[in-house]
Amino acid sequence: MIKGHLLSVADLTKDEALGVLATAHELAQITDGPNKKLPTLRGKTIVNLFFEDSTRTRISFETAAKRLSADVINFSAKGSSVSKGESLKDTAQTLQAMGADAVVIRHGSSGAAKRLADTKWISATVINAGDGTHEHPTQALLDAYTIQHHLKGKGDDLTGLNVVIVGDILHSRVARSNVLLLTKLGAKVTLVAPPTLLPVGVEDWSVDISYDLDQVLGNCDVVMMLRIQQERMLNSYFPTEREYSRRYGLNSQRLSMLKSSAIVMHPGPMNRGLEISAESADDIKSVVIDQVKNGVSVRMAVLYELLGGVALNSEKSGVK
Ligand code: CP
Repeated sequence: MIKGHLLSVADLTKDEALGVLATAHELAQITDGPNKKLPTLRGKTIVNLFFEDSTRTRISFETAAKRLSADVINFSAKGSSVSKGESLKDTAQTLQAMGADAVVIRHGSSGAAKRLADTKWISATVINAGDGTHEHPTQALLDAYTIQHHLKGKGDDLTGLNVVIVGDILHSRVARSNVLLLTKLGAKVTLVAPPTLLPVGVEDWSVDISYDLDQVLGNCDVVMMLRIQQERMLNSYFPTEREYSRRYGLNSQRLSMLKSSAIVMHPGPMNRGLEISAESADDIKSVVIDQVKNGVSVRMAVLYELLGGVALNSEKSGVK
């Protein structure tokens, strides 16, 4: 069981991460049945505090909380008093005053979730839903769950699997969290990107690095394409989109280089035609929609464990 806050994958032990995946598996079995709701978090209030746009993360946290019978308050910076200059501290304390037991925060600044937790401005549990270019721990957990589901068995770690992560590593909190988690779970990770889209110090990460996508595709079990994050790019990182696509984009020709068992992942939102072609996104090997579906079970597991869910077996009898 994880306890406290969820700020970074670095804070999780391997057993804790596998425990969250196992809880997600149990919860998926329950919520895939006719009764989707559990009474576990009845009376708890979860605030989605989003200073950056989101579709998947915000909606899946909301769905997860509601399936556990919690009350949900959705806060979006757009249209709020943040536009009048209200600070993170005052915003968070305002929401705490309305009874938040957990705050799920997405923020453009790396470290925002940790600041909220460390300063103790609020007493609620803090869950990092993406902070700047730093981390997106629940995305990594749902990605690990998806890989486990497709290529391993329930409870297994990811030893023996080759995962290739391709694209805008520099700006990607998804890449950082996935490198930490997938290597912790035993996978071998290779990063593929132009040198301009690799962060300073990447040579110290526990990964291999390649600049040639075609060379690594034949031996990988998972190819995870990353979004080119144009909104975070102040400079030009590659000559043209066409050139980027030609060298680093996933297309039908590259799909044919993959092993028959290999899967294609993308955290979304996708730039179809840039880092991934429409045919690749919709190919039978693509598990992008599964990732979204699994996000609900994994976020249920995170809320369940952090907010003190009781043993799952007694929950089953309480299904509503
Ligand atoms: N993968 C992800 O974080 O998507 P959203 O930005 O839509 O939440």
